Amino acid sequence: MNERQNHTSSQHSAVTVIGLGPMGQAMTRALLAAGHPVTVWNRTAARADGVVAAGATLAATPAEAVGASDLVLLSLTDYRAMYDILDGATAALAGRTLVNLSSDTPDRSREAAAWAAGHGAAFLTGGVMVPAPMVGTAAAQVYYSGPAQVMERHRSALALVGAPKYLGEDPGLAQMMYQAQLAVFLTTLSALMQATAMLGTAGMKAGEALPELLASADTIGAILRAGEASPGTALDAGEHPGDLSTVTMMGATADHIVETNTSLGLDLALPLAVQAHYRRAIEDGHGGDNWTRIIDGIRSPR
Ligand SMILES: NC(=O)c1ccc[n+]([C@@H]2O[C@H](COP(=O)([O-])OP(=O)(O)OC[C@H]3O[C@@H](n4cnc5c(N)ncnc54)[C@H](OP(=O)(O)O)[C@@H]3O)[C@@H](O)[C@H]2O)c1
Repeated sequence: MNERQNHTSSQHSAVTVIGLGPMGQAMTRALLAAGHPVTVWNRTAARADGVVAAGATLAATPAEAVGASDLVLLSLTDYRAMYDILDGATAALAGRTLVNLSSDTPDRSREAAAWAAGHGAAFLTGGVMVPAPMVGTAAAQVYYSGPAQVMERHRSALALVGAPKYLGEDPGLAQMMYQAQLAVFLTTLSALMQATAMLGTAGMKAGEALPELLASADTIGAILRAGEASPGTALDAGEHPGDLSTVTMMGATADHIVETNTSLGLDLALPLAVQAHYRRAIEDGHGGDNWTRIIDGIRSPR
């Protein structure tokens, strides 16, 4: 490694990025743009061509990549990929900080933190909340958890990926938040495609349907915030006052959605899952409660 790569000032410390999918490439570009020397490694070396042209240095091996920087970002499909890459480079890990920004389960993030500690490395879990084109922009936010002092030590470099939101010491916490957020995101995406398919059977093109559906999706937050200073406060208190949107009313609509999709011959997996939440709450005698009551059945599945 040359002198530039080993530079350790807090402003322009060396950073390694392992994993050059769209996210890893975007992170590398954001770090380079801020003046950090960046070393990269990717299983498929050709994927590094663009960032190397932008100024990154391609390491020949994972061990060389880890050895180039105190701060090592991992942007991979899952945590298995981290072990596949680093199992042969564990001797290089001592004293490094691994920041794994990959999707997986909270338990696997906790296991990885223990694995890293066993090799003398610090570990932060990260969950990036924006797609690649938004990485490094003012709109980008990244959840982190792990040791607070490690977070503080690397905050300025990590902030170049997106505004860091530190959740706490438990390395599983940021992953839990990421999976919770993606549960909302993926379910919403499926709902949008279900609804687009429904409207398509009536001859409406997706180009016409999606703007209508997205406008409704955009208002969900405002609807849920209306009338309550802090959404979730009643839920935390175990209260589900059924003044407006009762389980019975919403459950009837869930039935209508299932009936409509059945008559259209569309896939029923999503409509049936939603219907099941309301049916369960009604069976448990909570039809007069607010729709939030469905959380009981989610928390305690039969
Ligand atoms: N894309 C998004 O919009 C987005 C947004 C937020 C968070 N994320 C998360 O960010 C992470 C990266 O996303 P991405 O879209 O950049 O991912 P991606 O296209 O899936 O790229 C994954 C990277 O993982 C590598 N990889 C996968 N399995 C491997 C293995 N067994 N051994 C070695 N390398 C392996 C790939 O190497 P090769 O190039 O050799 O295949 C590639 O560099 C994911 O966990 C994703 O959930 C993505």
